[in-house]
Amino acid sequence: MLVVPIVSGGGGGVGGGGVGKGGVSISLDCNYAKGKWVIDNHRPLYSGFGCKRWLSGSWACRLTQRTDFAYENLRWQPKDCELEEFQRSKFLTRMQHKTLAFVGDSLGRQQFQSLMCMITGGEEMQNVEDVGIEYGLVKPEGGTHPHGYAYRFITTNTTILYYWSSTLCDTQPIDPTDPESDVAMHLDQPPAFLQKYLHKIHVLVLNTGHHWNRGKLKANRWVIYINGVRSTEKELAMIWRAKNFTVHSVVSWVNSQIPKYPNLKVFFRSISPRHFVGGDWDTGGSCNNTTPMSVGKEILEEESSDLSVASAVKGTAVKLLDITALSQLRDEAHLSRFRMTPNPAAVQDCLHWCLPGVPDTWNELLFAQI
Ligand SMILES: *[C@@H]1O[C@H](CO)[C@@H](O)[C@H](O)[C@H]1NC(C)=O
Ligand SMILES: *[C@@H]1O[C@H](CO)[C@@H](O)[C@H](O)[C@H]1NC(C)=O
Ligand SMILES: *[C@@H]1O[C@H](CO)[C@@H](O)[C@H](O)[C@H]1NC(C)=O
Repeated sequence: MLVVPIVSGGGGGVGGGGVGKGGVSISLDCNYAKGKWVIDNHRPLYSGFGCKRWLSGSWACRLTQRTDFAYENLRWQPKDCELEEFQRSKFLTRMQHKTLAFVGDSLGRQQFQSLMCMITGGEEMQNVEDVGIEYGLVKPEGGTHPHGYAYRFITTNTTILYYWSSTLCDTQPIDPTDPESDVAMHLDQPPAFLQKYLHKIHVLVLNTGHHWNRGKLKANRWVIYINGVRSTEKELAMIWRAKNFTVHSVVSWVNSQIPKYPNLKVFFRSISPRHFVGGDWDTGGSCNNTTPMSVGKEILEEESSDLSVASAVKGTAVKLLDITALSQLRDEAHLSRFRMTPNPAAVQDCLHWCLPGVPDTWNELLFAQI
């Protein structure tokens, strides 16, 4: 194992420098976003044929028509520090009597499924209990599915949960009695779920990004509210500004809660890049490359390419889980045109990732920092 000197001055906030087990110096201040992809035949960390209980079939590329799997055998190697190897038992011991929550959009759900598969090694595992009800994650009346999922590893009393909040702000129907009602997005209010359950969470991983566009706003009948009233600000009518405002608001709120919960660690996962070529998702865009690292393998930039999230967490106790640039190099690892049932007419998916795959790396970087 590489001995990395402790970076001084990192004592405050979440994760200062420290000395690891066995006296090995580890730096928790390492910038894990800098590094390179290397081929590693000990990957993937679980089989895409397994993990049936948690892995959505449509994300398990082994179950689709895809025949190239080189993308499964890549590992991220940070430049200036050793990445602690993910071990199932280590993870569970570290998270004993604790709850880890992913709150975000479908990319957050991918990260959640990835982590469940990493912890179980993709194998059937007894002693994992569905505890959704403890977090209000039950099918709403008349709804088709709950707003999230929560599972507990009984042996260590470790809970992993996912809550669907694609925008990280509170959304409330303007007229709750009308199913067709417009929905107020309260940009300055965190999701009600977080307000209600933050005290039960020990590691929180937030993300948002891909729902901030006109199409989604219109389809969801979302209208922008600030201070409890409909916003007339021209500024916020520009969607990227509304998103930036929300990212800053939720970070500022959660940062203000940390003193109440000193053991809470919060991460904001930076945006997951899309790789549509020759069009967008609905105009014939594609991502056909199958050769890993053909767009490069190394990231040396110090600054995150997600400027909005990086600026929001700056100066707060919220940590940046910066995966944008390293994932940008992985254009070959999306679902692309592959489906469980072939459908030549289907649009390509150059947003979500094959699992096992890139989100496993995000979880390795997360594991190294909790
Ligand atoms: C499990 O962990 C929670 C904290 O997340 C704690 O409140 C609870 O008492 C623990 N249960 C047992 C059986 O130790
Ligand atoms: C994002 O929002 C924050 C807080 O509202 C603001 O200070 C910052 O200037 C905004 N960033 C951009 C690029 O507009
Ligand atoms: C990707 O493959 C699809 C289906 O084979 C094809 O229609 C499309 O033109 C290809 N895109 C590019 C950029 O080569």
